[in-house]
Amino acid sequence: MVKVFRTIGEMKNIARDWGRSGLSIGFVPTMGCLHDGHASLIKKSVSQNDKTVVSIFVNPTQFGPEEDLDKYPRDFDSDLELCQNIGVDAIFFPEPSMMYSDNYNTYVNVKQLTNNLCGKSRKNHFEGVCTVLTKLFNIVKPDYAYFGKKDAQQLCVVKRMVEDLNFDLKIIGCDIVRESDGLAMSSRNKYLSSDERAAALCLNKSLNVAKRLISAGKTDVNMIRSEMIEFISKQPLAKVDYVEIVDGCSLQPITCITKPCLIAIAVYIGKTRLIDNFYYE
Ligand code: PAJ
Repeated sequence: MVKVFRTIGEMKNIARDWGRSGLSIGFVPTMGCLHDGHASLIKKSVSQNDKTVVSIFVNPTQFGPEEDLDKYPRDFDSDLELCQNIGVDAIFFPEPSMMYSDNYNTYVNVKQLTNNLCGKSRKNHFEGVCTVLTKLFNIVKPDYAYFGKKDAQQLCVVKRMVEDLNFDLKIIGCDIVRESDGLAMSSRNKYLSSDERAAALCLNKSLNVAKRLISAGKTDVNMIRSEMIEFISKQPLAKVDYVEIVDGCSLQPITCITKPCLIAIAVYIGKTRLIDNFYYE
């Protein structure tokens, strides 16, 4: 039976007890509204650890003032059922006021890696992500934490933070889970109307355009980016936020395709901002 903890104290106590008993703890941080992408991370954790904790917390500090914090989809009952079915041991489900008191004043910043891609278009986003993850890692004390490659920059930034700040845990990256037609699963797909849902396929398809060009031996990053942008622009409901090809480790722009590199895109479909990516390695 999955236990639900709403206070930091309760979550810390059980995690401390498990740790002292020599049990390994796997952790999957989420913002809830769980889908098969989240489920793949949770299953991996359950299969690799004695205990698995899932956190469900729509973290206010990673949303900008114009973003969708208030309308971000929430469905605790179905999240609970999904966790129960996979064999999760504990769900940490705090209120925002439990995580951020009125006097809250401490933030964690990873520099260079957050300069472009989503870091450029979502100011302070990664500061919010790194801050909440630091708090969650201190509360849950996991041995392993599972993150999706869908959020490639997040995975890269979190790995850097864990190494730089000497957290005693290992970050495990997990493959992107897609719908059968190629759309990367995301809680934000719930916002899409049926027309928008069809239009959203242009994200994955534009990555396929890049893959084909690279397979054909093309290495000019500007040319590949232009072809991708042109492809997306044919879709009237789509508006490019960014299409970038960057070094796979530093996340800094490159001019010529070399391994490893990351092709990352963010596209508005109507009002919904979706991301997708492909690692060439
Ligand atoms: P959220 O968007 O709920 O995602 C939680 C985890 O699920 C992330 O590691 C994300 O990369 C992974 N994930 C989402 N969709 C996926 C897909 N289609 N395939 C594989 N993995 C997928 O990312 C966050 O929450 C937050 O920023 C968080 C890390 C919880 C900090 O607040």
